[in-house]
Amino acid sequence: MKVAIGCDHGGIVLKDSVIKAIVELGYEYVDYGTYDNASVDYPDYAEKVARAIIAGDADKGVLLCGTGIGISIAANKIDGIRCAHVTDNFSAQMSAEHNNAQIIAMGGRITKEEDAYTFTKTFLTTEFAGGRHAMRVDKIMALENK
Ligand code: RB5
Repeated sequence: MKVAIGCDHGGIVLKDSVIKAIVELGYEYVDYGTYDNASVDYPDYAEKVARAIIAGDADKGVLLCGTGIGISIAANKIDGIRCAHVTDNFSAQMSAEHNNAQIIAMGGRITKEEDAYTFTKTFLTTEFAGGRHAMRVDKIMALENK
């Protein structure tokens, strides 16, 4: 599995923990930036990661900003993307199992590094349950064409 990572200056504090989780799982990652603490605009990094997934350059993604809110809202503007803002491990699990999210978003100002590591591992190792959840996810995606 290849995982795309993107963050702004508010989320960069969690990047090493996310990378550690990905590497320990034996997965590859692509880091779309940002790479330092200079102030940047989170929609730019949301777009890079979301488009990488739509293009097939990555299978899943992790986005990080100060809260995880702005970068998740931005990613969900890209057609075909389901990005879940997660702040607990159960939500990280459900985002994959029920919502078939390709991306999770977390906040460097609200989530601890060790929790970001755990949530990333949970998200990346949880499979979509399908069944009734597939029908609901199909309904979500159909909203793009209404
Ligand atoms: C940047 O200051 C901050 O607004 C951003 O990281 C994020 O929290 C937005 O949702």
